[in-house]
Amino acid sequence: MIEFKNISKSFSSKDILNNISFKIKTGESVAIIGQSGEGKSVLLKHFNGLMMPDSGQVIIDKKIINELSFSDLQLVRKNMSMVFQFGALFDSLSIKDNILISLDNNTSLDTDEKEKRVIESLDLVNLSHIDHLYLNDLSGGMKKRVGISRAISIRPTYILYDEPTTGLDPINTGKIIKLMQSIKNSKKITSIIVTHEMKIVNEFVSRVIMLKNGNIIFDGSPKDLNSSKDKYIKSFILGKE
Ligand SMILES: Nc1ncnc2c1ncn2[C@@H]1O[C@H](COP(=O)(O)OP(=O)(O)OP(=O)(O)O)[C@@H](O)[C@H]1O
Ligand SMILES: [Mg+2]
Repeated sequence: MIEFKNISKSFSSKDILNNISFKIKTGESVAIIGQSGEGKSVLLKHFNGLMMPDSGQVIIDKKIINELSFSDLQLVRKNMSMVFQFGALFDSLSIKDNILISLDNNTSLDTDEKEKRVIESLDLVNLSHIDHLYLNDLSGGMKKRVGISRAISIRPTYILYDEPTTGLDPINTGKIIKLMQSIKNSKKITSIIVTHEMKIVNEFVSRVIMLKNGNIIFDGSPKDLNSSKDKYIKSFILGKE
């Protein structure tokens, strides 16, 4: 269970999140949408303490994570993986070593177990046969899959995706959504996805939270979002002003 309680965050006096509150139940899949610059990535980084609020509480499984010591926060993070908007992978390392670093940092598996976990995680994204390739040599879609593989390798209970399909063609977008679907089904994971992709909103999540000017202007089902009479929401969905 995740609870955001009166979260506010500003940067050099610009309010990005303005007293935001919501709860997310275990097993839910939730999309966070909104225009560029509205604070979606900032909001997502509050889930795992990569950013701390100026005020309010982020509560994960009964722990107020913005009040935890660094070592206790690290324990919470072992259950919570993030697929970053811009990858945050090591370009000068191989696919395999990118996964291994995460396993070294987040698990206490022995060498054999880590090897198995790498193969298992890369099999899921269909990349185990080329695990020796360097990140520098991969396409955008492949990099996204490595990011997802790294995230699931630690077997988290929560997965945070920051624009997992942005920049991909429709075929690869479809592949990533299928992949997210199989992760959701097989691992009973709670998924939070920042996205502009209406296909993810309509086919993957059961709930949508929309941000505007630091506030939540919609929190409900994709069906209700699509039938909203609100002008701003309508123009966002249709992609025109
Ligand atoms: N570390 C930071 N320091 C200062 N300002 C920041 C920082 N991180 C984000 N911001 C500002 O906060 C605002 C929201 O940024 P954020 O990255 O969350 O937007 P976004 O909704 O994810 O946009 P996009 O869809 O383009 O990814 C922007 O004005 C950004 O410049
Ligand atoms: Mg962003």
